[in-house]
Amino acid sequence: MILKLPKHVAIIMDGNGRWAKARGHSRFFGHIRGASKAKKIIEEGARLGLDSLTLFTFSTENWKRPQDEIRFLMLLLKKRLKRETRNLIKNNIRFDCIGDISRLPVSVLEQVQETRMLTKDNTGMKLTFALNYGGRQEIVNAVKNLAEKVKNAKLSPDDITEESLSDALQSSYLQDPDLIIRTSGESRLSNFFLWQAAYSEFYVTPVYWPDFTTENLHQALKSFQKTERRFGKTSEQLVPMPLPTQEMVR
Ligand code: IPE
Ligand code: IPE
Ligand code: MG
Repeated sequence: MILKLPKHVAIIMDGNGRWAKARGHSRFFGHIRGASKAKKIIEEGARLGLDSLTLFTFSTENWKRPQDEIRFLMLLLKKRLKRETRNLIKNNIRFDCIGDISRLPVSVLEQVQETRMLTKDNTGMKLTFALNYGGRQEIVNAVKNLAEKVKNAKLSPDDITEESLSDALQSSYLQDPDLIIRTSGESRLSNFFLWQAAYSEFYVTPVYWPDFTTENLHQALKSFQKTERRFGKTSEQLVPMPLPTQEMVR
């Protein structure tokens, strides 16, 4: 059993292309295998009882990829979401997304909205796909929102706090991720959860995403379990002090 389960796990699913290339396949094949892995990890997250799981699925920068790869990724997303919606319902998973989904092709957007609608009353794990998501864009939009309120005299500049900015983010329904996993070895955020990652534990594994197993997920969770999250304090401050005895009080 994994004690002290992180509440919110976020994954930067990277390495589909390299996985495929190493096997002499096209990048597309890597994405197919990657999508199957996402299904397995989602189901395991729900089985373990995670409160939230967020998957970085398509970044604002991924539009720079070749057109045929983008088209393939969108088609894959639509097909898999359609196929898996039944399982999400069965597993009591609530599906949602962050990012500017209005830029997605209409048929993908329709599927996203349908899956969202059909799972909205589920009370189990919150599954979020970051789709056309960029951390900087999310912060800019939140700031625009606050600025608009200040302009309309609904908010004073003094009321702009870390909390009000967090609340203005699209991901405000999620608590900050406790653990961010990145597969395939690179230690960067690639514009993911810039604001929310302030105190996240970061777990990087060399395993390519299509090879990432439930066992690898357990390893990441165990590594999280071993870390001491100090949030600026000292180690000693985290150990509960014994209550003062009568002697000490006197
Ligand atoms: C992750 O794998 C999938 C997406 C970013 C959509 P990549 O496609 O980035 O794989 P590599 O990094 O080229 O190996
Ligand atoms: C990050 O992976 C985005 C997703 C996993 C969706 P990338 O492969 O796009 O990141 P970079 O370009 O290597 O930083
Ligand atoms: Mg990559």
